[in-house]
Amino acid sequence: MADFPRGFKACFLLGFALLSIGAECANPAAPSGLGHETIFDVTKYGAKPDGRKENSMAFIRAWNAACKSSGPARLLVPQGDFVAAEIIFQGPCTAAKPITIDIKGNLSASTDLSLFTSEAWITLNVIDGLVVTGGGTINGRGEATWNLSGSKNEGGPLLPVSLLYKKVTNVVMHHVNFVNSKGFHSKVTDSSNVAFSYIKITAPGKSPNTDGCHISSSSNVNITDSTIGTGDDCISIGQGTSKILIARIHCGPGHGISVGSLGKRPEEKDVKGVTVTNCTLTGTTNGARIKTYHASPQIQASAIIYQDIVLNDVKNPIIIDQHYNSKKTQEPSKVKISDVHFRNIRGTTVSTIPVSLNCSRTFPCEGIELADINLTPSVGIGKLTSACSNAKYILRGKLNPPGPTGCA
Ligand SMILES: *[C@@H]1O[C@H](CO)[C@@H](O)[C@H](O)[C@H]1NC(C)=O
Ligand SMILES: *[C@@H]1O[C@H](CO)[C@@H](O)[C@H](O)[C@H]1NC(C)=O
Ligand SMILES: *[C@@H]1O[C@H](CO)[C@@H](O)[C@H](O)[C@H]1NC(C)=O
Ligand SMILES: *[C@@H]1O[C@H](CO)[C@@H](O)[C@H](O)[C@H]1NC(C)=O
Ligand SMILES: *[C@@H]1O[C@H](CO)[C@@H](O)[C@H](O)[C@H]1NC(C)=O
Repeated sequence: MADFPRGFKACFLLGFALLSIGAECANPAAPSGLGHETIFDVTKYGAKPDGRKENSMAFIRAWNAACKSSGPARLLVPQGDFVAAEIIFQGPCTAAKPITIDIKGNLSASTDLSLFTSEAWITLNVIDGLVVTGGGTINGRGEATWNLSGSKNEGGPLLPVSLLYKKVTNVVMHHVNFVNSKGFHSKVTDSSNVAFSYIKITAPGKSPNTDGCHISSSSNVNITDSTIGTGDDCISIGQGTSKILIARIHCGPGHGISVGSLGKRPEEKDVKGVTVTNCTLTGTTNGARIKTYHASPQIQASAIIYQDIVLNDVKNPIIIDQHYNSKKTQEPSKVKISDVHFRNIRGTTVSTIPVSLNCSRTFPCEGIELADINLTPSVGIGKLTSACSNAKYILRGKLNPPGPTGCA
């Protein structure tokens, strides 16, 4: 019996000695103090995958049991169609870190908007150590409510985000699918150390405000190796963010990958350190974009890199717009944009002005680099040019169209 694991041997011998094998010894693989992963299957807490029953309380009960357990814990959503209204997965948890949420089936949002009282359909709140995975689908069923969206009707409701990560740390989400959110598909806020990969997000190009992922007030957030097509930004990086990495994303349809909008609210904070690299955007309205509002607080957006980007039929491939959605006031944006690098950006465009640096009169852009840009028209639109106002820039490598001139 030389090759038995240590625990087993000890139990075996002890069993002989005492002529009784206790519960501890019945499971030789479980080392004391560590324990096996416990599965918390939502169907054991009353959830029914019949595509009709409203299951949010069952999900919350299963989560609470998993969260408040002691060893490793896995919340399991098995195959099937689970309808649910608002769900809050509340921490902090006592389970071993990380706790796993394993979504194998479909989670479908209720279509009755009166059942949603907060910002999100599913909120993950105050959790340290979390893995969300399983290959299942989070279906916001937004098609039933998009025509009520505030962006289509003045004073319309803010539709709920499908999955909100709030005040979380050390979170990984991979192999999760999202379709047809009511509001944004996902949002990360007040959080740090978050990594999403192998995410697929799908909504029609005409669906309002269905951003793939919005990040704000967070640090060290990576989104990589994912495919996102929506009716708004594939990824938007909002205020108060630092150490953000976006890599190997296929985006389209949608509004592209954007830093901003910045400067809408007075309490906003700086953006510092955003890298967007090795991404492909197809049929999007924007490519590499930074957008800020007029009449903003005085904040900074700096250390931003858009590099190794391929564009297919993109309307505004490279754009800094400090007049974003700002018809109501002439007061310039006070967001200071500096140290921004657009490098190795190539592909096709449907715009005659594919490069536009349109900065603030009072806080001009500084340290903008355009390097190795090669954009060609995808339709017969004639000569391409670059436009610019209130920006100090450096031009490097080959530039097609030629870099802007006469920038005051
Ligand atoms: C899950 O949703 C997909 C489409 O989003 C559908 O094709 C599939 O049949 C659904 N599965 C179940 C078990 O409802
Ligand atoms: C919105 O769309 C739904 C489903 O398509 C429809 O039943 C409803 O009447 C529409 N509401 C408005 C205000 O257009
Ligand atoms: C994000 O990627 C960077 C660069 O690869 C890495 O250093 C960092 O640890 C990653 N962050 C997370 C949360 O995975
Ligand atoms: C981006 O692509 C280049 C060329 O294929 C590769 O060398 C580099 O490692 C990639 N970087 C990331 C972050 O994916
Ligand atoms: C900058 O944006 C303003 C407002 O949209 C517009 O009037 C102006 O022509 C733009 N300038 C450049 C150089 O694109």
